[in-house]
Formats: sequence, C-alpha cells, structure tokens
Amino acid sequence: MLQVDLTGKNAVVTGATRGIGFGIAKALAKSGASVACIGTNEEKLNASVAEIVADGGSAKAYICNVADSEAVAKTAETIIADFNKKVDILVNNAGITRDMLMRRITDEQWNDVISVNLNGTFYVTRAFVEQMRRGKWGRIINISSISGLIGNKGQANYSASKAGVIGFTRTISKELANRNITANAICPGFIDTDMTAVLDEAYKQVILSNIPAGRMGTPEDIANAVLFFASPDSSFVTGQILTVDGGMIF
Ligand code: NAI
Repeated sequence: MLQVDLTGKNAVVTGATRGIGFGIAKALAKSGASVACIGTNEEKLNASVAEIVADGGSAKAYICNVADSEAVAKTAETIIADFNKKVDILVNNAGITRDMLMRRITDEQWNDVISVNLNGTFYVTRAFVEQMRRGKWGRIINISSISGLIGNKGQANYSASKAGVIGFTRTISKELANRNITANAICPGFIDTDMTAVLDEAYKQVILSNIPAGRMGTPEDIANAVLFFASPDSSFVTGQILTVDGGMIF
C-alpha cells in the first residue's frame, strides 16, 4: 500500500460496502483517516465497517441511497456533525451497471445508471463541499471508468454517466482550486469485484488478452491511486483523470 499519512483527516466514501469502495475505505483508514462509509445494505455495510475497526481503523456506517438528493443532504448533515464539522476527503465511488445495447436500453435502465453514477456524484459532492470550503482544504476523488473515456459496447448509459463524471470533475477542479480543494477522477480498467464477477468466462478471457499487464486489477490498485490524490503532498494536482488499467487503453 502507498504510504501516505492521513492522520487527523476525515474521509467519506460512497459505496463502501464491498469491492473497490471497501478497498478504498480500508486503505484510507489504514493511512490514519477516520472514514464515514456510505452504503445501501445495512447488514453488509456494518460488517465491512466492523472489519475496518477490528483492524484498528476508525470507521462508521451510514445508510444512504446516493441517488436520493434529500437523503444525501440529511446523511451529510449527520456525518458533518459526527465528524466535528470537518470533512477533508470525499471519494464518490458508488456506481451501478445496467448493460444493454443502446437500441434496447429502457428509460428505467438509462435513468437508474445516470441517477446513481452521475446525479449521485453531484448530490454527494454538493452536500459536502461547503464544509470543505469553510475548512479551506479538501480532496475530492471521483471514480469514473475507462468506459467513460473510450466507450464500451453495451454500456451507452454507463459510459455516458462516467464521461459525465469526468466533465463534472474538471469543472469543479477549477471552481474549488482557490480554496485548496483538489478534484480528480480515476478511470479503473477491469477490476476483480462483484460487478465484473457476473461477466461470462469467455468474455473475461477476451478482456484479459487485451490487458498488457496480464491480469485484472484489484480494489487495492485503485485504492493506491486514491491515496495519491488524497495525500496532503498532492495539493498541486487537480482536474486530472488517471487511468488505472494495466495498460489497456493507452
Ligand atoms: P460493486 O458493485 O462491487 O460495488 C458498488 C458499491 O456501490 C456497492 O457497495 C453498492 O452497495 C454501492 N452502491 C450502489 N448503488 C448505490 C446507491 N444508490 N447508493 C449508495 N451506494 C450504492 O462495484 P465495484 O466494482 O466495486 O465498483 C465501484 C466503482 O468503480 C463504481 O463506480 C464502478 O462503476 C467503478 N468501476 C468499476 C470497474 C470494475 O471493473 N469493477 C471498472 C471501472 C469503474
């Protein structure tokens, strides 16, 4: 794990229950940050938080659907109060797929993906940014995807949402830079999580043959990139889009 000292920093991670989000929450806690973990499944989120705490980290669970603007505002209020009105690091990781060829995508499949991946990123960022501005320090890290950069058959809704996250990140980096708040995005390639576990084996082999590194990524690979952006030493790095894909697309 990348060695970054985040002692005294408070972090919020959405979709922290499993996969990449859980990997990020664990890495931030290991680096000394106190982590507010947002998820939708209470039992599973509590278990993940308990694992971080058992490992000596500081973390707390918050149940919230990031696609619900009002719920996000209320949860943010609670987190801000619980964390002594100091939120330093925000990782917008919650995301879903509803893969289908574009001509067959239903309104519901389109809206679900945009609501969670793009609207959710906006709602959560807006809910915490005032606190960061007051503190004159912040690190916002949005999890996009290589699908948002190069597109991917069957993912018109998903790639549109992830490309939206990139545009959003670039704009807020400009709006917030004068308050010492950076905003960057990470584009993971194929990462071994529940999200990709559903892909059929033959398709996985095709993907693998296109990854120069010869393996799928891990949540830890993404967490290391998050730690870099979260570091107090990365204060001059903002508006960047970092691809973490084992050399797949560039
Ligand atoms: P996952 O499906 O294993 O985990 C997603 C997490 O987001 C879960 O904890 C889930 O509870 C949470 N979540 C979903 N909808 C939510 C909502 N409405 N409100 C709050 N939390 C919600 O997925 P994975 O693979 O860990 O993905 C994490 C992020 O990384 C996502 O944004 C995904 O799009 C992105 N990503 C993943 C890649 C992969 O290969 N696994 C590749 C590129 C990007």
